[in-house]
Amino acid sequence: MKTIGRFAVVAAALAVTLAGTNFGARAQTYPARPIVMIVPFAAGGPVDVMARMVAEGMSRSIGQPVIIENVVGAGGTTGATRAMRAAADGYTIIAGHMGTHAAAVALYPNLAYDPVKDFEPIGLLASTSVLVLARKDLPPRNLREFAHYLKDNSAKVNMAHAGIGSSSHVTCLPLNQAIGVRPTMIPFSGTGPAMNALVAGQVDYMCDVITNAAPQVQAGTIKAYAIAMPKRNPALTEVPTASEEGMPSFDPTSWVAVFAPKSTPGAILDKLSAALDKALDDYRRKLFFQVLNRGYALLKADPAAWAALKEERNAWDATLMDGLDSEERWGEDRRPTPPKHRKRRPRK
Ligand code: MLT
Repeated sequence: MKTIGRFAVVAAALAVTLAGTNFGARAQTYPARPIVMIVPFAAGGPVDVMARMVAEGMSRSIGQPVIIENVVGAGGTTGATRAMRAAADGYTIIAGHMGTHAAAVALYPNLAYDPVKDFEPIGLLASTSVLVLARKDLPPRNLREFAHYLKDNSAKVNMAHAGIGSSSHVTCLPLNQAIGVRPTMIPFSGTGPAMNALVAGQVDYMCDVITNAAPQVQAGTIKAYAIAMPKRNPALTEVPTASEEGMPSFDPTSWVAVFAPKSTPGAILDKLSAALDKALDDYRRKLFFQVLNRGYALLKADPAAWAALKEERNAWDATLMDGLDSEERWGEDRRPTPPKHRKRRPRK
């Protein structure tokens, strides 16, 4: 038994050494085949569009195609779960965002992953402003009228979003709370299809990021009542800020960042991070993202990035728990998750 035990220890040590060597060798030759970047929302939406732009640039500098795979469902958490379970070898990465990697934690008590413990940040892709949008023939002319309209028509208004915990869902919750309305929620697999429904007049309103909203607002196919920014955005100068419209509490930001599964070797993370930086540095993209940017620095796989992510996750947890607590007082029927199943997970 003793001999077998010693043999087992030696074999395990050897396996660890070989695995280490293998990882080292793999990191050196990485990437030897195409890389899959999971987009946890439908094609044509903001995360998809931004991911495709950088994937193209990353492919060029890293020497292998970076292929987008849309894995939709459950407010982006299906795709994020898939990414979390992928091999930590740098061949599967994910374009996550403030929903999948921060806010969703508060809304899915049984979420399979922890954004901080189960992922390595590769870098921030963009930080974008959020707008209050409505179908073009919705009667209100400004945010104040919109607030009254929602209250007066609360039984029939509906709001589109990209699933519980998505950015379009959670960024609109504070707005609904400020107004004191509980619309019927219409979930889509991303704000690409949700925007199509808004343009077609099939839904009444939604909150979405400027990347998706600007072309439609500029074309007059939808209305924008306010933008959550300290100043008006140069891409949409006619849209007032929420503060100008008397609602400074509507101040969400949405960000998109690229992550790898936890334990992806550092050398591989560095290569991916460098390729992302290079893609973002491309002149045209830099200009594009500058317009959208609200001052986020690029995330890196360092302690500061971890701290920021943790902080945001906990902030959303508190905001959404507060919001849901007040929804609970309004009745049980429309809560995203019944409270008896909602247990706070211990936060470190
Ligand atoms: C998308 O890319 O479809 C959106 O970012 C989804 C969302 O609202 O979070």
